[in-house]
Amino acid sequence: MAKILLVDDELTMVQMVAEVLRADGHEVWPFTNANSVAEALEERHPDLVITDLYLDKTKPHGMEIIRKARSLNPPAVVIMMTGFGSVESAVEAMQAGAYDYIEKPFKLDELKLCVQRALVYTQTVHENTLLRREIRQKYGFSRIIGASSGMQEVFRMVERVADTSTTVLILGESGTGKELVARALHFNSRRTHAPFVPINCSALPENLLESELFGHRKGAFTGAIADKNGLFHDADGGTIFLDEIGTMPSQLQSRLLRVLQEKEVRRVGDNVAVTVDVRVLAATNENLERLVKEGRFREDLYYRLNVVPIVIPPLRERREDIPMLVSHFLKDRIHARSGRPLQISRRALDALAAHSWPGNVRELENAIERALVLADLPLLVVHDFPPVVQGLAADDDGAEHDEAAANVEPVGAAPASDPMAGSTASTAASTALPGLPQTILSLRRFSRDQEQAYIQHVLRIANQNKEEAARLLDISLATLYRKLAEEGV
Ligand SMILES: Nc1ncnc2c1ncn2[C@@H]1O[C@H](COP(=O)(O)OP(=O)(O)OP(=O)(O)O)[C@@H](O)[C@H]1O
Ligand SMILES: [Mg+2]
Repeated sequence: MAKILLVDDELTMVQMVAEVLRADGHEVWPFTNANSVAEALEERHPDLVITDLYLDKTKPHGMEIIRKARSLNPPAVVIMMTGFGSVESAVEAMQAGAYDYIEKPFKLDELKLCVQRALVYTQTVHENTLLRREIRQKYGFSRIIGASSGMQEVFRMVERVADTSTTVLILGESGTGKELVARALHFNSRRTHAPFVPINCSALPENLLESELFGHRKGAFTGAIADKNGLFHDADGGTIFLDEIGTMPSQLQSRLLRVLQEKEVRRVGDNVAVTVDVRVLAATNENLERLVKEGRFREDLYYRLNVVPIVIPPLRERREDIPMLVSHFLKDRIHARSGRPLQISRRALDALAAHSWPGNVRELENAIERALVLADLPLLVVHDFPPVVQGLAADDDGAEHDEAAANVEPVGAAPASDPMAGSTASTAASTALPGLPQTILSLRRFSRDQEQAYIQHVLRIANQNKEEAARLLDISLATLYRKLAEEGV
């Protein structure tokens, strides 16, 4: 069963088609002119749009409807009905993004078949989107937590450059999440199905790093017993992540520069260069500009890598992210002995937020892991954390064991589904999570989530009485029902 929006200026045509589609179990919203179609598209998000091309015999409104339908998120599939049998308009309709067209007059069976095909297509697209979303969740934005303005800027940059081939230089202290950002860039690009190849440039001595990166021919040096492809070759079509680029020896810097300029790789001991299509991401916790000034890093390579810099601020400059990170690391964890979900005390959370975290998010993550092992209770308390953190805790008024910090609900769940929770709980938890998602959503999606959460809140106040809730919300009952039906969209 699908939601179908149907537009044609001939009333009898609309009635007939609507009847046939309804008989097949579809929900049909009929329109006989273009007037309110655009709003209906935005509000109702149909799965399929069937529209006539000419709605008043003079202007091809159908084209605008296609464009509008395709701009929705997710885009609606469109079938165009052409009355004039004109090949050009059919071609134009397909170019504008229509999935199919059907020429009038048509047999109803023909239309049914056409609709069926379009819906199968929608279903496949939907499944693909879900699969892709799964991959994204694994490596994508949603694994990077942070609502601070510094992290929002990081998200904005990642979103802007992910699906380009530009070289990105990721800068940040140790443990700030540079590799996480590199993965998000790769898995949100069209290279996502090709390899992501990380290499730590400080982990190998110069000659090994060289053959690791570029490969070698058999006999090129002692120990080269067979031909070997380098990582640039392995990453063909995908992304190579050069971590700790600041430690790369200068001779290799020159070779890397050549690869970046010529987009081809020559194995050690080989005369022939091979073309590769590899996106380069690099990261460092060093001050590359200073290395350039000191003559330890090639200036031309620096400029070549620094096309787009993404700077991840240290955790101490975005302490507001600490509670969210803590809840992220505690999410789905249970206390081994009692089997109960783990929580953290208000006092411990405040102490964590006060620490300066020289090892950044990694250090915080390790502190939580350690506490998980040591904890006596399903409630983490100050003495489960390292002495530096304990030293930052407020005086113990004896209440610590009784009170879990209100903000350590599983990340996202409480604030996103119930924005009111934050305000009612704010007396108990002064640093409660703001009602903000930890990932970037489109404004429309965010507004819709907030709206849905608020509607649910008012419904609870009204004891699930929809008429009462509609009155409180000052909307018609029909609007309330429509909005509730949108919830799962
Ligand atoms: N914003 C974040 N949200 C969730 N987890 C994070 C975030 N930032 C870092 N982490 C986690 O912290 C750990 C360190 O991150 P990562 O390895 O990406 O840091 P790095 O900057 O590459 O560190 P280094 O410079 O030491 O290599 C990882 O386990 C990562 O999952
Ligand atoms: Mg790293």
